[in-house]
Amino acid sequence: MATSAQLKALVKSFADGDDDRFYTYALQISAHEARLGHGKLAQELRAIIDAARQKKEKIAFSQKTIPIAQPKGELANLLTASYPDVRFTEMILPASVSGRLNRIIKEQRQIEALQSHGLSPRRKFLLLGPPGTGKTMTASALAGELRLPLFVIRLDGIITKFMGETSAKLRLVFDAINQHRGIYLFDEFDSIGTTRSSINNVGEVRRILNSFLQFIDQDESNSMILAATNHPAILDYALFRRFDDVIEYSLPDGDERAKLLEIKLGGFCTPGLDIKKLAGESVGLSYAEISRACEDSLKETIINNREQVTQEIASQMLAERKRYHDKIFNNSQQIGDRK
Ligand SMILES: Nc1ncnc2c1ncn2[C@@H]1O[C@H](COP(=O)(O)OP(=O)(O)O)[C@@H](O)[C@H]1O
Ligand SMILES: [Mg+2]
Repeated sequence: MATSAQLKALVKSFADGDDDRFYTYALQISAHEARLGHGKLAQELRAIIDAARQKKEKIAFSQKTIPIAQPKGELANLLTASYPDVRFTEMILPASVSGRLNRIIKEQRQIEALQSHGLSPRRKFLLLGPPGTGKTMTASALAGELRLPLFVIRLDGIITKFMGETSAKLRLVFDAINQHRGIYLFDEFDSIGTTRSSINNVGEVRRILNSFLQFIDQDESNSMILAATNHPAILDYALFRRFDDVIEYSLPDGDERAKLLEIKLGGFCTPGLDIKKLAGESVGLSYAEISRACEDSLKETIINNREQVTQEIASQMLAERKRYHDKIFNNSQQIGDRK
């Protein structure tokens, strides 16, 4: 049997919550029993200790907040790293989208359990939708919920900066994806994902697209890969099937606009304010544009020493955003016309 000193040390380490010491003493007792010729008991003790240790390591892995790994050397030019604190409760999303995002989070949180059964969580997603509808915010919220670092890769930057070497740079990014678990967002993905048959897709862009397809196919990491784009129409179908799911974002409907206005105006929103009317006036605007109009309204209110946003100010700020929106839209159409 174990000596009284061993037993006391074992119980004390348990009471102190010192797991490492606890396992050390437990192993000492197992070795002691082996020396006394109690081979079977020694073996059983060892098996219990090993199983407990493995379980602890697994829990530690799943709960670990991975320390922010600031990209160094060449990688620093390719990725930006952050640790967002965004949550999905801050986002307004249609039930279909939030349902899918919740499923992604659940699968990621159970990554070890799935992997122990030979299954892998879905982790490659394409986010489609107009500007300002929450694609980038989704990447931040996934990182925030899963306590993983967010790495953003701007492909247009890589392509223009490293013309001719883009595939080599992409390899570096995919090496990082494999080495550091995180959320990797290929933002403004259109710059690479344009259809392969279009005129400007000869040469370099084609090579980049092909190597991207190859890298994403080969990727078996624990990281999540997201690609976001505003232009689904120009994306190649070869790309679509590389992803586990395509998540579509759209401009807010009337109820969603009203909800956003209420949240964004917050404490400055009076019961007298006609939110429904404001929601009607903001038709066609994105979440991002309405959020900006609300911030402008709050600033205007505070500057004028008021405590509540008036209907007039909110209306005026939304109208300003709309004018701005139309101007950008018309300009981009004109540029398109000139082609
Ligand atoms: N679905 C949403 N719910 C709440 N706020 C949103 C939503 N989508 C966008 N926003 C607001 O607009 C900002 C910009 O959105 P972003 O995610 O960058 O748009 P995208 O990447 O689709 O162009 C966000 O930081 C947030 O303030
Ligand atoms: Mg974005």
